Amino acid sequence: MTLGVVILAAGQGTRMKSALPKVLHPLAGRPMVLYSIEAARPLTSLPPVLVVGYGAEEVRRAVGEEVTYVEQREQLGTGHAVLQARPALEGKASEVLILYGDMPLLTTETLRQVVQARREAEAALALLTVVAEDPRGFGRVVRGSDGNVLRIVEEADATEEERAIRELNAGVYACDAAWLWDHLPRLPLRPKGEYYLTDLVEIAVREERRVTAVATSDPTEVLGINTRVHLAEAEAAMRRRINRRWMESGVTMIDPETTYIEADVVIGTDTVIWPNTILRGRTQIGARCRIGPSTVIEDSVIGNDCRVFASVVEGAIMEDGSDVGPFSHLRPGARLGAGAHVGNFGEVKNAVLGPGVKMGHFSYVGDAEVGAGANIGAGTVTCNFDGRRKHRTIIGEEAFIGSGTMLVAPVRVGRRAVIGAGSVVTRDIPDETLAYGVPARERGPVKEDEGDGP
Ligand code: UD1
Ligand code: CA
Repeated sequence: MTLGVVILAAGQGTRMKSALPKVLHPLAGRPMVLYSIEAARPLTSLPPVLVVGYGAEEVRRAVGEEVTYVEQREQLGTGHAVLQARPALEGKASEVLILYGDMPLLTTETLRQVVQARREAEAALALLTVVAEDPRGFGRVVRGSDGNVLRIVEEADATEEERAIRELNAGVYACDAAWLWDHLPRLPLRPKGEYYLTDLVEIAVREERRVTAVATSDPTEVLGINTRVHLAEAEAAMRRRINRRWMESGVTMIDPETTYIEADVVIGTDTVIWPNTILRGRTQIGARCRIGPSTVIEDSVIGNDCRVFASVVEGAIMEDGSDVGPFSHLRPGARLGAGAHVGNFGEVKNAVLGPGVKMGHFSYVGDAEVGAGANIGAGTVTCNFDGRRKHRTIIGEEAFIGSGTMLVAPVRVGRRAVIGAGSVVTRDIPDETLAYGVPARERGPVKEDEGDGP
């Protein structure tokens, strides 16, 4: 049997009160619809069919080419939305799994159970239900005296008695494909001007076709998102899920409640994460690192045995054993070689600090290359911008830059050169040469006791 998947994502999500289509609101850093696609993909050999409408172009841009798109031009309800997928699936799929793009916490396992239940019961339709105290505006599952599902009633149309029902329609359905395509065009038009997918249940029952319900025991899985309050609840649930996964794979979190890790982040074993840490985007962190407290790392690659302490690291690379902080900022294009050290109040942008470079105190290094083992004294600044253009600074291996040095780029300081404190370097300084002054002048070769030591 070939299973087709339809994911509904055409609604605006009016209750979000947002210009952004609801399914693009991010959860743990990713548009929520991507979770539904990811959960369903392992179940099908066909690309999932995504029904788009409101903000279709934006949704396409965010999701990419891994799904088949069909457009629902007017949002005439969930039943009408599924019908738009018919040309994409009819004749290709013998059964169809339908889910909504606003339920990002659903797992593949649960979807599989719904598909399985329909097959075993040879039912026209299987649906997922959840028993929960907070009905969240969900449709209620009405059962007969024999316990069989009779129909779904939407909250707005429910009687007081029906509203008291605590078994809710989660919004996941597996259907026999032929039956689905035959009956979708026959859904009644509701007074709201919509065709409800949920009315299929009553139709199947009327035809004496079997309907089967799978009850999930985990209400967080079916946290559908209709409002920003729901979004925050789902975010918290997703955060707990992500943090648990990393703890189970060997990462220590001092306080998981204040540790925010986006979905695509990767972390090595025996790394310890301290509170108030935010790991974002495509960040990768190696083993045995100490990260945080009060740290933000975004789209960066951190090697093994690194430390990032109360700092911000964006678009940067830190090789094994390097460390940053407290209160420093690595900006895009920064690269710290193995064992390099950036201490307090440092900023590095579009610059490579070679292995073992020390830059301990309030310095700015931008558009630069610093050779292995060089020492950048307190308050050193690469003056990389002349008001119009950016220029590069090259510092040779094991060079010693005295405190308070201004390096006016473009400029090159040679290997093992020594620059005296307070210099303004406006011209290239050769290897193993001592220079100082304003502007800095060459004073002869470096002597034995100059330039080593911190
Ligand atoms: C729906 C169910 C309800 C269930 C709940 C679970 C119906 C009629 N009701 O209600 O029984 O308890 O989900 O979350 O199905 N969409 C379209 N085109 C449309 C309308 C909706 O693509 O014309 C999409 C939306 O983008 C959304 C999904 O379908 O992703 C669900 O729509 P929504 O309006 O959120 O339905 P609910 O009121 O939550
Ligand atoms: Ca919904």
